[in-house]
Amino acid sequence: MIIVCLVALNQIQLDVSPEDTCACFQCLKEHEEDPWFREHYRSPVPKLLSRGNSELSNETRNWWEKLQTGRTKENLSAVVDILFSLFPDGELYSDAGPQRCRTCAVVGNSGNLEGSHYGPLIDAHDFVIRMNRGPTAGFEKDVGSRTTHRALYPESAMDLDNSTHLVLVPFKIQDLQWLISIFTTKHITRTYFNVKPTINADRDKVMVLHPEFMKYVYESWLRKKGTYPSTGFMMLILSLHICDQVNVFGFGAREDGSWHHYYDKRYHVLLNGGKHRGSVEYNITVKLHQMNKIRMYKGW
Ligand code: C5P
Repeated sequence: MIIVCLVALNQIQLDVSPEDTCACFQCLKEHEEDPWFREHYRSPVPKLLSRGNSELSNETRNWWEKLQTGRTKENLSAVVDILFSLFPDGELYSDAGPQRCRTCAVVGNSGNLEGSHYGPLIDAHDFVIRMNRGPTAGFEKDVGSRTTHRALYPESAMDLDNSTHLVLVPFKIQDLQWLISIFTTKHITRTYFNVKPTINADRDKVMVLHPEFMKYVYESWLRKKGTYPSTGFMMLILSLHICDQVNVFGFGAREDGSWHHYYDKRYHVLLNGGKHRGSVEYNITVKLHQMNKIRMYKGW
C-alpha cells in the first residue's frame, strides 16, 4: 500500500496543457468545483503576512484582537515594521499553475499515528507540515523525519532545525513581539504562560500566518463554531491554498476513541471542548476526503 502511494506521490510529469490546474496525476482544484467546496473555499485570501498586506480591516482587527488578551499596548503597524526588517517579506507560494505539482503532508499530533508506519510516506512529500511540539526523534517509523514547516505560537514553541520554516500562528500582538524577541533581545519570557525566551530557528525561514486567513478559516470553514480554529485545521486549510495534493496524517481520535498525542499518552487533547470544536473540524476533514480534495490517513 505504502509503495503504491509513494509511486503516486512521485510527481509523474504528465503531458500538461494550459488548461490543467496542476501537473500532478490528480489536482486538488478541478475546473468544475463542487458547490459545497465553492461555498467554503475563498480565493484570493491573504495567506501569510507581508508588509504590503499587513493593514487589517476594522472587522478583522476587532475579531483578531479579541482572540487572546495580550499584555501589550503596542500597535500592529509599529510591530510589523520591525518584523519585516528582520524576516523575509513578500508574497510566497502564489505560483500555482499547470507546471506545478506540489505535494503536502499535514501531520497532526494524534495518537492514531502510533504503529501506523506512515514515516516513509510522510517524508516523500514536498512539504511536510507539523505543529507545535510534535516530535520526530524516536517516532520516525510512524511520523517521518523531515519537517519543512512547523506551525507554532509562543506557548507551544520548540527548537527547529535549519531546514524548517517557522510558521507563527499569531493570536495576539504580543505573539509577534515574541517572534522578534526570540531573535533579538530575548526579553519576553511570559505571555499567559511562561514561554521560551529563544528557540533555535533560521531567521530567513520565518513566516507569519495572516490574521485575515485565520478569520477566513473560522468564518468560511467552521461557520463560527468554537472560538477559533485549531492550529492543525488552519494548516490543513492553508495547504489547500498552497499545495496541489494534500495528504493528512494524525488527525482525529485513535480507533479506541482516545484523543491523546502520539508522543504523550497522559495528555488527552481537549479538542471537543475548550476553544475548538474538534468534531466540526473532523467532519469537514472527512468531507474533504470523501470529495477527493484531500486524502486522510487514519492509522487503521
Ligand atoms: O494538540 P496539538 O494542538 O499540538 O495538535 C496539533 C493538531 O493536531 C491539532 O491542532 C489538531 O488539529 C490535530 N490533532 C487531532 N487529534 C488529536 C491531536 C491533535 O486532530 N488527537
